[in-house]
Amino acid sequence: MKKTKNLFDLTGKVAVITGASRGLGKAMAIGLAQAGADVVITDILDTKKAVKEIESLGVKVMGLKVDVSKNTQVQNMIKKVISKFKKIDIFVNNAGVYFSTPMKGLPDKNWDKILDINLNGSMMCARAVGEQMIKQKSGNIINIASVAGISAFASSSAYNCSKAAIIMLTKTLAAEWAPYNIRVNAICPGIFVTDMTKGLIKDKGFQQMIKAGVPLGRYATPDELAGAAVYLSSNASSYTTGHALVVDGGWTVHL
Ligand SMILES: NC(=O)c1ccc[n+]([C@@H]2O[C@H](COP(=O)([O-])OP(=O)(O)OC[C@H]3O[C@@H](n4cnc5c(N)ncnc54)[C@H](O)[C@@H]3O)[C@@H](O)[C@H]2O)c1
Repeated sequence: MKKTKNLFDLTGKVAVITGASRGLGKAMAIGLAQAGADVVITDILDTKKAVKEIESLGVKVMGLKVDVSKNTQVQNMIKKVISKFKKIDIFVNNAGVYFSTPMKGLPDKNWDKILDINLNGSMMCARAVGEQMIKQKSGNIINIASVAGISAFASSSAYNCSKAAIIMLTKTLAAEWAPYNIRVNAICPGIFVTDMTKGLIKDKGFQQMIKAGVPLGRYATPDELAGAAVYLSSNASSYTTGHALVVDGGWTVHL
């Protein structure tokens, strides 16, 4: 392991984050940039605003339009990053969607959409970036799962299953790619205030459930996930792989 003065320093590293034009992806991209990494922001949405904001931190930033559920786009993303930056040190599989999927009469297309983006998208990105990291004999992959991957929420089977599978994908790839000096970890966020959760958060019953059930008694802001991403991307976590790091204000302490 290369010794650095600051265990969390990411200077000279290249990080790619999917679904990063807003929300948790953007917050993690900012955190990685503040730690010194050059970053590539990818999303199906326009990335210009996020790119401009992160460029002001003094690192190199690239924005790419990519749908993670389309394998050709995923492969092109890796090619474009390599042609500009020559390597990828950190890859954050963050792009994801949530909508409710009650099982009674559940349309196949609703199940498929969540699995295609959350699980298959993470797998295709890991497969494509893994090929590059195996060549480099180094790399660091972080998969964004959820507390929903370890604790069941009613009417959300597609989302819950996608996130539980992401945790198992993380552990499997950690075992498979350790010989190539590639670490693979997951983060399981609790409830963070983003576009994904803004509807839920308005609900009075949900607010009461969080107050009563989360020991810290509140939701989190997106920047409160950045530290976990920096930790897992840096030398500070050099002996950590195959781990699912829960960041949930204590919501799952009783599991
Ligand atoms: N917000 C939370 O409380 C919470 C909790 C647990 C896990 N998560 C997970 O964190 C991740 C980020 O969620 P968020 O809360 O920031 O939500 P968000 O909706 O603000 O951000 C998700 C991003 O993913 C992008 N995206 C969606 N489909 C895509 C696709 N096919 N290809 C590329 N990009 C796509 C969206 O455009 C968006 O920018 C997701 O994987 C989500 O499941 C969020």
